[in-house]
Amino acid sequence: MIEDMLRTPAAVRDAERHTAHNYHPLPVVISSAEGAWLTDVDGRRYLDCLAGYSALNFGHRHPTLIRAAHEQLDKLTLTSRAFIHDQFADFCKELAELCGKDLVLPMNTGAEAVETGIKVARKWGYQVKGVTPGQANIVVAEGNFHGRTTTIVSFSTDEDARADFGPYTPGFTVVPYGDLDALTAAIDENTVAVLLEPIQGEQGVVVPPEGYLPGVRRVCTERNVLFIADEIQSGLGRTGHTFACDHEGVVPDMYLLGKALGGGIVPVSAVAANTDVLGVLKPGQHGSTFGGNPLACAVATEVVRLLATGEFQRRSAELGARLRAGLEGLIGKGVVAVRVRGLWAGVDIDPTLMSGREACERLMERGVLAKDTHGSTIRLAPPLVITDDEIDHAVAQLAAVLAG
Ligand SMILES: Cc1ncc(COP(=O)(O)O)c(C=O)c1O
Repeated sequence: MIEDMLRTPAAVRDAERHTAHNYHPLPVVISSAEGAWLTDVDGRRYLDCLAGYSALNFGHRHPTLIRAAHEQLDKLTLTSRAFIHDQFADFCKELAELCGKDLVLPMNTGAEAVETGIKVARKWGYQVKGVTPGQANIVVAEGNFHGRTTTIVSFSTDEDARADFGPYTPGFTVVPYGDLDALTAAIDENTVAVLLEPIQGEQGVVVPPEGYLPGVRRVCTERNVLFIADEIQSGLGRTGHTFACDHEGVVPDMYLLGKALGGGIVPVSAVAANTDVLGVLKPGQHGSTFGGNPLACAVATEVVRLLATGEFQRRSAELGARLRAGLEGLIGKGVVAVRVRGLWAGVDIDPTLMSGREACERLMERGVLAKDTHGSTIRLAPPLVITDDEIDHAVAQLAAVLAG
């Protein structure tokens, strides 16, 4: 194709012209997608190895999910929670069952689920645990990523995410991730919750040492503190289990879910917990106009049903083993370390070779889309519908990029 005739450069310029530059996207303009593949405005195809930061666990336009969305669009899209709609009960029941919890509270974005978790934990602290009014404290981890609201960035340790957004919300204590002694020492009589990602995604798919999550569970139980697992990126099949906590048989008091729950179609998030925890909320104390809307519930119920079959968790575990083997084969050939759980990988590129951004740009030129994080790390999180051959293809392209 003659370079001058490509639509991409002008489309990139247009996209940048009237938007705040709060992202630094790869210079690719996607116009359609199916399964694990994307097509750009010039007809070039790319293997999606990011899957919308795990929002597309079931691939692009999964037929069951698209059908559910179409059918619901033709019937009812929004009521607000002022009225009950006919998609609500099934969604809440089936998601609660998947989580093994009594109740769910639907919201929209991941950050809203996190905010909900924080509010519920504080209220639980005052009303159930008996914490002194105004003194509730939540223990969080260094390197966390829980979203972008002012409260959430208040306890971020990433200066890019935090700087100049103060004044900051008090009530959080930050401890090193993976250090159970530090976490235990940070808990006092005012601690209402420990909020953790069971695997830190944005930090580069950082898996805590074995025994850490069970240890957190034990300490939380002993000290009457809620364990809140932010499974917004790690959950819903990504790691080879329904939840990343399942790898060590850990059951938190509260799951925070988002991303894949909306099937890559609509933003759907939720908090799942038992009645003794979520039951602290009474009418008027929390909510969202769009949370739990009929379109969201119709799609998300089908997401829960896909997960209930176990097929996606199995695929993720099996194909993840292949991804791991492929990536480990690149260690010493431009890769210095890899961390893999299911179909989720953090790949540390030798920083003397190229940055993560450069690696992703070169992968893009070879028809594979992935995203860098923190300098020289790239994150791979393909849709769980990817095939063996496609995984081999992605690894081969990465090998070619690193070979220069
Ligand atoms: C672990 C985790 N929590 C929360 C969020 C925030 O989700 P959202 O961008 O939907 O607000 C993210 C997003 O990347 C995440 O990875």
